Amino acid sequence: MSIPQTFIQELLSRIDVVEVVGRYVPLRKAGANFMGLCPFHGEKSPSFSVSPSKQFFHCFGCGKSGNAIGFLMEHAGMGFVDAVEDLARQVGLTVPDDHATAADKERAAAARQHQATLSEVLEKAAQDYRKQLRQSSKAIDYLKGRGVSGEVAQRYGLGYAPEGWRHLASVFPQYDEPLLAESGLVIVGEEDGKRYDRFRDRVMFPIRSVKGECIGFGGRVLGDDKPKYLNSPETPIFHKGNELYGLFEARTAIRESGFALVTEGYMDVVALAQLGFENAVATLGTACTAEHIAKLLRFTDGVVFSFDGDAAGRRAARKALDAAIAHASDTRSIKFLFLPSEHDPDSFVRAHGASAFSRHIADALPLSRFLIEAASDQCDLGTSEGRARMSSNARALWEPLPDGALKRQLLGELASLAQLDPLDLQEVWQQAAARTRPPAPAAQRAGASASRSKGREAPDMAFAPSPGTRRGRGAPASRSDHAARLLLSHMDFIDSLSHEDNALLCAQAAPHGPLFAWIEMQFHEHGALPWAVLRESLRGHACEPLAARVMTGAHAQTEGDTHELQQELRGLLNRMLVDQIKLQESAAIADSASDPQALQRYRALQARRLALERLAPSSS
Ligand code: UTP
Ligand code: MN
Repeated sequence: MSIPQTFIQELLSRIDVVEVVGRYVPLRKAGANFMGLCPFHGEKSPSFSVSPSKQFFHCFGCGKSGNAIGFLMEHAGMGFVDAVEDLARQVGLTVPDDHATAADKERAAAARQHQATLSEVLEKAAQDYRKQLRQSSKAIDYLKGRGVSGEVAQRYGLGYAPEGWRHLASVFPQYDEPLLAESGLVIVGEEDGKRYDRFRDRVMFPIRSVKGECIGFGGRVLGDDKPKYLNSPETPIFHKGNELYGLFEARTAIRESGFALVTEGYMDVVALAQLGFENAVATLGTACTAEHIAKLLRFTDGVVFSFDGDAAGRRAARKALDAAIAHASDTRSIKFLFLPSEHDPDSFVRAHGASAFSRHIADALPLSRFLIEAASDQCDLGTSEGRARMSSNARALWEPLPDGALKRQLLGELASLAQLDPLDLQEVWQQAAARTRPPAPAAQRAGASASRSKGREAPDMAFAPSPGTRRGRGAPASRSDHAARLLLSHMDFIDSLSHEDNALLCAQAAPHGPLFAWIEMQFHEHGALPWAVLRESLRGHACEPLAARVMTGAHAQTEGDTHELQQELRGLLNRMLVDQIKLQESAAIADSASDPQALQRYRALQARRLALERLAPSSS
């Protein structure tokens, strides 16, 4: 989506940054400006200033500054488009999109409206569950018995879903309203079509998006019945692999403490908040994903995973390690805390107190140590075989690390554990990679790549990694390959693409089209992600082989002046557009015999093509 700059200016002139910031940060007038405690770093006296005349915020403590859009992106973790849309809604403007068709716009608006409606339905249920909690002594007793104060229950909006199959019929005017089923509150019997409440006689934990909207629930039984927890199903607004319980409530504490505590359970979050660790969040009964971590890292550079010390906890930690490696750049601190095996964070902090838990946090295992432990797991480093096995395990753990000092040091450490020279270790890994890579198609092996029939994609061997299969550097890379490489390595370029560009890319034949669609979706969901992170998200995905192929050995080609690379992408897209228009021109000529308007269409297409060709003269 491309939002015209003029609209951004118009929007910024209509909103007041003081009001936007003021919704999140208490501000007090101080001379011409407003001052408050900076939401981006922990501080006791205000150094965060908002200027109504400049329409800018600036923190003298940590240096963060920006306009209202920047504030929403930084503080509420919104993407650029989201932030603009959010502000536009507040002042009653509609975001124009030059390239979107009327139908596209309508569809997008309808989808947004639908999501808002789903969230309203859930919010209404949450309100009622809160009311029910106030009236249920057994639910109150349950929470009290678990040490939850009224204050904390309120902070997390805890509630109670009463007994009975159709309680929500008393909350919503129409129980058979499809939204109730779609939001997951009501289950429709598969055979008889009978409707009934999903959550009955359970303590309710509302799950909120980073914007604070209710997007789902977890519900716990009061006794020992099974299942212990019921969760909302996946819906258009609730994706377990993306959401973290408690993130909305924890945002400020995460910033102030400089790290997020990631646990496994609802009760862990609530209990930790109760005892002073308000920066805790929980995955929703699923393994921690790279998306979860990307989301947290929008708010902080520090993550501490807190797992039980038992086997299940180790397994969960190992999955979190896999998801975290690609995010472990030099400026971040990712650590793993293992509690005694009989405890989860909730029971531990209640049994041993906050300071004991703080000590565990301080002693948490840095990612680098855990990575080495994971590589050496069940390897006897006293034998050559054990060291070889460790080396082999280490490859998949080390490779996704982002380039930097940590990666280089770990190479050195792993090599010395393996009793190899670092260069030798890397060579061993390269050989192993070459063995596991699927063989190249026959046409490529025969070196016939450049002379394939027109319109087919010439395979791109220019970046093939291992010397054994390398072709001459001059072999032409296919445009789609090249565009994929540029977008996978510089995902933020998507922001500069028009609707037409996106449609063009997504319409490419498989596997390219689906990969472009996937990249775009990732961008909308998470913002720009580095290749190392995308690489992880792609594991097992149908687009993985193509992405892996175009990115293999691509660093040399995709590092360089960002502006130049972006120009390169523009040039590529223009040439692809030219090809597309040529096809449309031929179709218009063919139509012109029967359709008097086709000739006009042809002239318009031709004019557009000629203009594009002037922009991209080297039409290769
Ligand atoms: P646990 O079984 O560790 O529960 O599940 P817990 O959080 O310690 O719960 P309490 O202390 O007994 O109340 C951890 C998380 O796994 C998911 C929930 O998100 C839970 O918080 N889970 C667990 C389910 O979704 N369903 C279940 O039946 C059990
Ligand atoms: Mn527990």
